[in-house]
Amino acid sequence: MISRIRLTAIAFFVGIMAAFPLSAQQLPKGKITPKLEPIAETKLLMEGLAHANFRGLERNLLKNPIDDQSWTFARGQALLIAETANLLMMRPPKTQGQATWFEHTMNMRTQATQLAQRLAKKDIEQSKLGMTQLAGSCNRCHQTFRVPVEIVPFPAPDAPPARKV
Ligand code: HEC
Repeated sequence: MISRIRLTAIAFFVGIMAAFPLSAQQLPKGKITPKLEPIAETKLLMEGLAHANFRGLERNLLKNPIDDQSWTFARGQALLIAETANLLMMRPPKTQGQATWFEHTMNMRTQATQLAQRLAKKDIEQSKLGMTQLAGSCNRCHQTFRVPVEIVPFPAPDAPPARKV
């Protein structure tokens, strides 16, 4: 099994790759429009980016007290979830439901961006509320596309894992 630390490392790496899709060297002078191409499977983005950062956020917000570094880290995790939504926009279903897919990805990006703003203000109550709203955006898409995964923020220690059928 891939460790959490490694997943977080993947998450940051993919986040950085997403932020800098092409190096300046690869872009010759003149008109070139880079073509966005999905590389990884959606499932990998879910595990390595969306879920890894969501769980990391929970760990940071459960600290007591939450130190400055943890707030900064949590904000970064929320922003990486927002960027993940951008990556998901490149991966709509091939046949049906594309408009719904885009709606859900935009909602995920909005919720994650809003959460990052709350984390920047170090507002714990609003941030926890933001986690619930973000989980809602994950779950609405999962329900629409019949993915048997329910994201529950701050689950009890004895709660079952995210996958439910
Ligand atoms: C736009 C739709 C959409 C949104 C939004 C979305 N997901 Fe998913 N998610 C999927 C799909 C589709 C799959 C199934 C991927 C597969 O197995 O090929 C999936 C699967 C998963 C899985 C299971 C991966 C596995 O190992 O099988 C997890 C965990 C997950 N998502 C977490 C999240 C989290 C956390 C969020 C929100 C921060 C989120 N998802 C938002 C569409 C979405």
